[in-house]
Amino acid sequence: MSLAILPAEPDLTDALPAQPSPERLKALALRRSSSAQALTQPGPTPEEQAAILRVGARVPDHGKLTPWRFIVIPPAAKTALVEQLKTIAAGRPDAETAKAKLAKLAAPPFTVVVVSQPARDHKIPAWEQELSAGAVCMNLLHAADALGYGGSWITDWYAYDADAVKLLGLEDGERVAGFVHVGTQAAAPLERARPDLGDVVSYWAG
Ligand SMILES: Cc1cc2nc3c(=O)[nH]c(=O)nc-3n(C[C@H](O)[C@H](O)[C@H](O)COP(=O)(O)O)c2cc1C
Repeated sequence: MSLAILPAEPDLTDALPAQPSPERLKALALRRSSSAQALTQPGPTPEEQAAILRVGARVPDHGKLTPWRFIVIPPAAKTALVEQLKTIAAGRPDAETAKAKLAKLAAPPFTVVVVSQPARDHKIPAWEQELSAGAVCMNLLHAADALGYGGSWITDWYAYDADAVKLLGLEDGERVAGFVHVGTQAAAPLERARPDLGDVVSYWAG
């Protein structure tokens, strides 16, 4: 997709009014994640990758703390990462399942690890900072979708395994908010069950 539509980064003095867009509303109403294993080549171009990261970083963030960071896993490095994770998987009690799950990491052409790095003992609660990292993952998916790619936000065991997160380069106090994968959809995903709004919406009556 041509990125000519992408505006220059706004200045702090720029007014940014709401932008009504029936097209965007429709896309939001129908957006659907892909299965990571169903994401294939071609992946986003370097310009598209930059646009995805830019949109991903544009999220609500109480106190402007930027309590998250990105680790992009380039394709060549991904092969090495998967191999090393296989070794870690072999030492786990669920070795076979853990190894099989690596297929989801191996397949997609573009992968970003969103790392939550909340400032501790800060007046902004860590919870709010972690929510901001979740918003980053969601925005990455929105950007992928708007560019015509499928996206998948997953965690899996290697987001929690101590050796795996060390291998990824996480520091103390950091956690994986998600692996966000982007690529061409091998097949369009089918709808999945959604909550009945009647079950989750209530009206405060005082
Ligand atoms: C924090 C988080 C972690 C997730 N981890 C996994 C995972 O490890 N494996 C998986 O199959 N789905 C995982 N999912 C679910 C998918 O990302 C996604 O919610 C699901 O496929 C449907 O997404 P959709 O509503 O965007 O279509 C995770 C979701 C979230 C929010």
